Amino acid sequence: MIVTAQGQQDVRNEQDVVLARQLVRKHAVTCGLRLVDQTKVVTAVSELARNTVVYGGGGTMQWELLEDGIRRGVRLCFVDQGQGIPDMALALTDGWTSGSGMGLGLTGARRLVDEFDIHSVVGQGTRVTITKWT
Ligand SMILES: Nc1ncnc2c1ncn2[C@@H]1O[C@H](COP(=O)(O)OP(=O)(O)OP(=O)(O)O)[C@@H](O)[C@H]1O
Ligand SMILES: [Mg+2]
Repeated sequence: MIVTAQGQQDVRNEQDVVLARQLVRKHAVTCGLRLVDQTKVVTAVSELARNTVVYGGGGTMQWELLEDGIRRGVRLCFVDQGQGIPDMALALTDGWTSGSGMGLGLTGARRLVDEFDIHSVVGQGTRVTITKWT
């Protein structure tokens, strides 16, 4: 697998969430993802970027365009240095929220992409990586 392009986007506020969505839509088109898959990955990005803002205190979205044989893909990594997630199993339970959300963001995002990885250290921060392949 090779990385053909990469970069990052601040995810500090609601406006950055919009920019992240637009950027990922553009990259998804570049990769050749079909419309329904573009929309899936953009929806996952909305959820993860919003979590970065709301719970992570802001952070960054790192992006990569990938090639693996004939497959192409887009990988997004949301990184923050916020409070972290004390109970990952709970956080990944449908309908559980520590705030006033619906508790469907992480689980929804996970279902919409091909690869989902989450790593969090309490007091240090959270990193969520997703990949969508053609
Ligand atoms: N980046 C993060 N940093 C710290 N905690 C997080 C982060 N992302 C998610 N969480 C924790 O995981 C819980 C579940 O997140 P999820 O996105 O599934 O639901 P929600 O944000 O509470 O509600 P919804 O996304 O449906 O509006 C959150 O309530 C929060 O406690
Ligand atoms: Mg959420």
